[in-house]
Amino acid sequence: MVVRKAVLPVAGWGTRFLPATKAMPKEMFPIIDKPVIQFIVEECLSANIENVIFVTGRHKRPIEHHFDINTDLEKHLEQCGKTDLLRNIMEISRLINPIYIRQKEQLGLGHAVLVAEPVVGYEPFVVALGDIIVRDNKNILERMMEVYNRFGKSVIAVFEVDRKDVSKYGIIYGRHIEKDIYIIDDLIEKPKPKEAPSNLAIVGRYLFTPRIFEKLKVTPPGKGGEIQLTDAIKLLIEDEAVYAIKIDAKVYDTGTPLGYIQTVLDFALHRDDLREDLILYLKQLLSSSIPQIDTV
Ligand code: G1P
Repeated sequence: MVVRKAVLPVAGWGTRFLPATKAMPKEMFPIIDKPVIQFIVEECLSANIENVIFVTGRHKRPIEHHFDINTDLEKHLEQCGKTDLLRNIMEISRLINPIYIRQKEQLGLGHAVLVAEPVVGYEPFVVALGDIIVRDNKNILERMMEVYNRFGKSVIAVFEVDRKDVSKYGIIYGRHIEKDIYIIDDLIEKPKPKEAPSNLAIVGRYLFTPRIFEKLKVTPPGKGGEIQLTDAIKLLIEDEAVYAIKIDAKVYDTGTPLGYIQTVLDFALHRDDLREDLILYLKQLLSSSIPQIDTV
Protein backbone atom coordinates (compact mmCIF):
# COMPACT_ATOMS: atom_id res chain seq x y z
CA MET A 1 0.00 0.00 0.00
CA VAL A 2 1.32 3.45 -0.92
CA VAL A 3 2.19 5.77 1.96
CA ARG A 4 0.41 9.03 1.19
CA LYS A 5 0.10 10.84 4.49
CA ALA A 6 2.51 12.33 7.00
CA VAL A 7 1.68 13.52 10.50
CA LEU A 8 3.81 16.36 11.83
CA PRO A 9 3.24 16.93 15.56
CA VAL A 10 3.93 20.63 16.17
CA ALA A 11 1.79 21.48 19.19
CA GLY A 12 4.54 21.51 21.84
CA TRP A 13 5.16 24.61 23.96
CA GLY A 14 8.83 24.92 23.15
CA THR A 15 9.57 25.69 26.79
CA ARG A 16 13.31 25.34 26.26
CA PHE A 17 13.13 28.48 24.13
CA LEU A 18 10.91 30.69 26.28
CA PRO A 19 10.34 33.64 26.07
CA ALA A 20 11.02 33.40 22.30
CA THR A 21 8.32 30.74 21.91
CA LYS A 22 5.62 32.65 23.78
CA ALA A 23 4.13 33.90 20.51
CA MET A 24 6.36 32.24 17.90
CA PRO A 25 6.37 28.47 17.30
CA LYS A 26 9.83 26.94 17.58
CA GLU A 27 9.12 25.19 14.28
CA MET A 28 9.15 28.65 12.64
CA PHE A 29 12.63 29.52 13.87
CA PRO A 30 14.80 30.28 10.86
CA ILE A 31 17.73 28.21 9.76
CA ILE A 32 19.16 31.34 8.20
CA ASP A 33 16.18 32.14 5.95
CA LYS A 34 14.06 29.00 5.92
CA PRO A 35 11.92 27.95 8.89
CA VAL A 36 12.71 24.58 10.44
CA ILE A 37 9.30 23.16 9.57
CA GLN A 38 9.80 23.83 5.86
CA PHE A 39 12.77 21.45 5.79
CA ILE A 40 10.56 18.70 7.16
CA VAL A 41 7.72 19.48 4.74
CA GLU A 42 10.18 19.43 1.82
CA GLU A 43 11.48 16.06 3.00
CA CYS A 44 7.89 14.73 2.97
CA LEU A 45 7.12 16.18 -0.45
CA SER A 46 10.23 14.73 -2.01
CA ALA A 47 9.10 11.30 -0.73
CA ASN A 48 5.81 11.87 -2.63
CA ILE A 49 3.69 12.38 0.46
CA GLU A 50 0.36 13.85 -0.69
CA ASN A 51 -1.08 15.15 2.57
CA VAL A 52 0.85 16.78 5.36
CA ILE A 53 -1.20 16.68 8.56
CA PHE A 54 -0.04 19.18 11.17
CA VAL A 55 -1.13 18.47 14.73
CA THR A 56 -1.06 22.01 16.04
CA GLY A 57 -1.95 24.05 19.10
CA ARG A 58 -3.38 27.49 19.75
CA HIS A 59 -0.11 29.38 19.45
CA LYS A 60 0.91 27.76 16.16
CA ARG A 61 -0.95 29.91 13.62
CA PRO A 62 2.24 31.24 11.94
CA ILE A 63 2.81 27.71 10.56
CA GLU A 64 -0.54 27.87 8.76
CA HIS A 65 0.22 31.34 7.40
CA HIS A 66 3.61 30.19 6.20
CA PHE A 67 2.22 27.49 3.93
CA ASP A 68 -0.64 29.66 2.58
CA ILE A 69 -0.49 31.47 -0.73
CA ASN A 70 0.29 35.12 0.05
CA THR A 71 -0.94 36.96 -3.04
CA ASP A 72 -0.03 40.44 -1.73
CA LEU A 73 3.57 39.42 -1.13
CA GLU A 74 3.76 37.63 -4.47
CA LYS A 75 2.45 40.75 -6.28
CA HIS A 76 4.95 42.90 -4.43
CA LEU A 77 7.90 40.68 -5.32
CA GLU A 78 6.76 40.52 -8.92
CA GLN A 79 6.54 44.31 -9.13
CA CYS A 80 10.04 44.66 -7.64
CA GLY A 81 11.38 42.11 -10.13
CA LYS A 82 12.61 39.82 -7.32
CA THR A 83 11.93 36.71 -9.36
CA ASP A 84 14.16 34.31 -7.43
CA LEU A 85 12.50 35.16 -4.14
CA LEU A 86 9.10 35.02 -5.81
CA ARG A 87 9.74 31.55 -7.18
CA ASN A 88 11.03 30.46 -3.81
CA ILE A 89 7.98 31.52 -1.82
CA MET A 90 5.49 30.42 -4.50
CA GLU A 91 6.80 26.91 -4.82
CA ILE A 92 6.21 25.42 -1.38
CA SER A 93 2.71 26.86 -0.97
CA ARG A 94 1.70 25.40 -4.37
CA LEU A 95 3.16 21.95 -3.67
CA ILE A 96 1.87 21.34 -0.17
CA ASN A 97 -1.59 20.03 0.56
CA PRO A 98 -1.83 20.74 4.29
CA ILE A 99 -4.38 19.66 6.86
CA TYR A 100 -4.37 21.29 10.30
CA ILE A 101 -5.83 19.57 13.30
CA ARG A 102 -5.73 20.79 16.89
CA GLN A 103 -4.36 18.90 19.85
CA LYS A 104 -6.62 20.43 22.48
CA GLU A 105 -4.49 19.36 25.42
CA GLN A 106 -0.81 18.59 25.38
CA LEU A 107 -0.71 15.07 26.71
CA GLY A 108 2.43 13.93 24.91
CA LEU A 109 3.78 12.87 21.52
CA GLY A 110 1.77 9.64 21.48
CA HIS A 111 -1.42 11.57 22.15
CA ALA A 112 -0.58 14.05 19.35
CA VAL A 113 -0.29 11.19 16.86
CA LEU A 114 -3.59 9.70 18.05
CA VAL A 115 -5.31 13.06 17.44
CA ALA A 116 -4.55 12.59 13.71
CA GLU A 117 -6.35 9.22 13.47
CA PRO A 118 -9.61 10.51 11.90
CA VAL A 119 -7.59 12.19 9.14
CA VAL A 120 -5.17 9.32 8.56
CA GLY A 121 -7.83 6.61 8.50
CA TYR A 122 -6.85 2.96 8.17
CA GLU A 123 -3.70 3.22 6.10
CA PRO A 124 0.06 3.35 6.69
CA PHE A 125 1.44 6.81 7.45
CA VAL A 126 4.60 8.64 8.34
CA VAL A 127 5.27 10.60 11.52
CA ALA A 128 7.99 13.25 11.19
CA LEU A 129 8.89 15.33 14.23
CA GLY A 130 8.66 19.04 13.59
CA ASP A 131 11.99 20.05 15.12
CA ILE A 132 14.32 17.38 13.72
CA ILE A 133 16.08 18.06 10.42
CA VAL A 134 17.80 15.13 8.73
CA ARG A 135 20.48 15.76 6.14
CA ASP A 136 21.21 12.69 4.00
CA ASN A 137 22.07 11.93 0.40
CA LYS A 138 19.05 9.72 0.06
CA ASN A 139 15.65 10.75 1.40
CA ILE A 140 15.24 8.86 4.66
CA LEU A 141 11.45 8.55 4.27
CA GLU A 142 11.90 6.90 0.88
CA ARG A 143 14.31 4.41 2.42
CA MET A 144 11.78 3.66 5.15
CA MET A 145 9.08 3.18 2.50
CA GLU A 146 11.29 0.64 0.73
CA VAL A 147 11.57 -1.37 3.95
CA TYR A 148 7.82 -1.05 4.51
CA ASN A 149 7.12 -2.28 0.97
CA ARG A 150 9.24 -5.37 1.59
CA PHE A 151 7.89 -6.38 4.99
CA GLY A 152 4.50 -4.61 5.22
CA LYS A 153 5.19 -3.58 8.82
CA SER A 154 6.10 -0.42 10.74
CA VAL A 155 9.60 1.00 10.31
CA ILE A 156 11.46 3.36 12.61
CA ALA A 157 14.62 5.26 11.71
CA VAL A 158 17.44 5.06 14.26
CA PHE A 159 20.97 6.39 14.45
CA GLU A 160 23.98 5.76 16.64
CA VAL A 161 24.55 8.20 19.49
CA ASP A 162 27.20 8.49 22.19
CA ARG A 163 26.33 6.45 25.29
CA LYS A 164 26.29 9.63 27.37
CA ASP A 165 23.48 11.02 25.15
CA VAL A 166 21.06 8.08 25.29
CA SER A 167 18.87 9.81 27.90
CA LYS A 168 17.81 12.39 25.29
CA TYR A 169 16.17 9.79 23.02
CA GLY A 170 13.99 6.75 22.69
CA ILE A 171 16.42 3.81 22.52
CA ILE A 172 15.78 0.50 20.78
CA TYR A 173 17.18 -2.97 21.16
CA GLY A 174 17.00 -4.98 17.96
CA ARG A 175 18.05 -8.17 16.23
CA HIS A 176 20.21 -7.37 13.24
CA ILE A 177 18.69 -9.12 10.20
CA GLU A 178 20.60 -7.55 7.33
CA LYS A 179 22.70 -4.49 6.57
CA ASP A 180 21.28 -1.60 8.63
CA ILE A 181 17.97 -3.37 9.28
CA TYR A 182 16.79 -4.69 12.64
CA ILE A 183 13.67 -6.25 14.11
CA ILE A 184 12.94 -4.38 17.30
CA ASP A 185 12.76 -6.49 20.48
CA ASP A 186 12.53 -3.69 23.00
CA LEU A 187 12.40 0.09 23.35
CA ILE A 188 12.77 2.48 26.21
CA GLU A 189 12.11 6.20 26.28
CA LYS A 190 15.03 8.32 27.51
CA PRO A 191 16.84 5.71 29.62
CA LYS A 192 19.77 6.43 31.92
CA PRO A 193 23.02 5.38 30.20
CA LYS A 194 23.24 2.38 32.55
CA GLU A 195 19.72 1.19 31.61
CA ALA A 196 20.04 1.70 27.84
CA PRO A 197 19.85 -1.58 25.89
CA SER A 198 21.95 -0.10 23.03
CA ASN A 199 23.04 3.23 21.60
CA LEU A 200 20.56 3.13 18.71
CA ALA A 201 18.37 6.20 19.13
CA ILE A 202 15.04 7.01 17.51
CA VAL A 203 15.60 9.82 15.02
CA GLY A 204 12.08 11.26 14.88
CA ARG A 205 11.00 9.59 11.61
CA TYR A 206 8.47 6.76 11.86
CA LEU A 207 6.37 4.84 9.36
CA PHE A 208 3.44 3.13 11.03
CA THR A 209 0.80 0.62 10.13
CA PRO A 210 -2.56 1.94 11.39
CA ARG A 211 -2.48 -0.62 14.24
CA ILE A 212 -0.39 1.89 16.17
CA PHE A 213 -3.65 3.79 16.85
CA GLU A 214 -5.11 0.79 18.73
CA LYS A 215 -2.01 0.77 20.90
CA LEU A 216 -1.98 4.53 21.48
CA LYS A 217 -5.53 4.30 22.81
CA VAL A 218 -4.40 2.00 25.62
CA THR A 219 -0.95 3.44 26.32
CA PRO A 220 -0.79 4.76 29.88
CA PRO A 221 1.13 7.96 30.68
CA GLY A 222 4.86 7.19 30.83
CA LYS A 223 8.02 9.30 31.11
CA GLY A 224 7.15 12.82 32.31
CA GLY A 225 3.50 11.80 32.80
CA GLU A 226 2.99 11.98 29.01
CA ILE A 227 1.54 9.43 26.58
CA GLN A 228 4.73 8.36 24.87
CA LEU A 229 4.88 7.15 21.28
CA THR A 230 7.78 4.90 22.26
CA ASP A 231 5.55 3.10 24.81
CA ALA A 232 2.86 2.52 22.16
CA ILE A 233 5.48 1.00 19.82
CA LYS A 234 6.49 -1.29 22.69
CA LEU A 235 2.88 -2.51 22.82
CA LEU A 236 2.78 -2.87 19.03
CA ILE A 237 5.77 -5.23 18.94
CA GLU A 238 3.79 -7.67 21.10
CA ASP A 239 1.38 -8.10 18.14
CA GLU A 240 3.42 -7.53 14.99
CA ALA A 241 7.02 -7.05 13.93
CA VAL A 242 8.41 -3.52 13.92
CA TYR A 243 11.57 -2.86 11.92
CA ALA A 244 14.32 -0.32 12.49
CA ILE A 245 16.53 1.09 9.81
CA LYS A 246 19.86 2.50 10.89
CA ILE A 247 20.77 5.67 9.07
CA ASP A 248 24.11 7.33 8.80
CA ALA A 249 22.71 10.82 8.25
CA LYS A 250 23.38 14.07 10.04
CA VAL A 251 20.53 14.59 12.50
CA TYR A 252 19.89 18.13 13.76
CA ASP A 253 17.78 18.66 16.84
CA THR A 254 16.66 22.27 16.50
CA GLY A 255 14.49 21.93 19.61
CA THR A 256 17.31 22.73 22.05
CA PRO A 257 19.28 25.99 22.15
CA LEU A 258 22.63 24.29 21.49
CA GLY A 259 21.18 22.06 18.76
CA TYR A 260 19.59 25.09 17.13
CA ILE A 261 22.84 27.08 17.11
CA GLN A 262 24.73 24.07 15.71
CA THR A 263 22.13 23.68 12.96
CA VAL A 264 22.33 27.32 11.90
CA LEU A 265 26.14 27.23 11.91
CA ASP A 266 26.31 23.99 9.94
CA PHE A 267 23.85 25.16 7.30
CA ALA A 268 25.62 28.51 7.02
CA LEU A 269 28.94 26.71 6.50
CA HIS A 270 27.33 24.85 3.59
CA ARG A 271 26.20 28.06 1.89
CA ASP A 272 28.39 29.71 -0.72
CA ASP A 273 27.20 33.21 0.16
CA LEU A 274 28.04 32.84 3.88
CA ARG A 275 30.76 30.24 4.26
CA GLU A 276 33.89 32.30 3.72
CA ASP A 277 32.94 35.28 5.89
CA LEU A 278 31.62 33.01 8.61
CA ILE A 279 34.82 30.96 8.75
CA LEU A 280 36.83 34.17 9.00
CA TYR A 281 34.61 35.39 11.83
CA LEU A 282 34.77 32.10 13.71
CA LYS A 283 38.55 31.99 13.42
CA GLN A 284 38.80 35.52 14.81
CA LEU A 285 36.37 34.69 17.57
CA LEU A 286 38.23 31.57 18.62
CA SER A 287 41.64 33.19 18.52
CA SER A 288 40.49 36.05 20.76
CA SER A 289 39.64 35.40 24.38
CA ILE A 290 36.40 33.46 24.92
CA PRO A 291 33.88 35.77 26.63
CA GLN A 292 33.50 35.10 30.36
CA ILE A 293 30.09 34.74 31.96
CA ASP A 294 29.43 37.72 34.23
CA THR A 295 28.98 36.67 37.81
CA VAL A 296 27.15 38.88 40.29
C1 G1P B 1 11.03 12.42 20.96
C2 G1P B 1 10.76 10.94 21.14
C3 G1P B 1 12.08 10.18 21.29
C4 G1P B 1 12.98 10.46 20.10
C5 G1P B 1 13.20 11.97 19.98
C6 G1P B 1 13.98 12.31 18.72
O1 G1P B 1 11.51 12.97 22.16
O2 G1P B 1 9.94 10.74 22.27
O3 G1P B 1 11.84 8.80 21.40
O4 G1P B 1 14.23 9.81 20.23
O5 G1P B 1 11.94 12.66 19.90
O6 G1P B 1 14.37 13.64 18.76
P1 G1P B 1 11.55 14.57 22.44
O7 G1P B 1 12.90 15.03 21.96
O8 G1P B 1 10.44 15.18 21.66
O9 G1P B 1 11.39 14.73 23.90
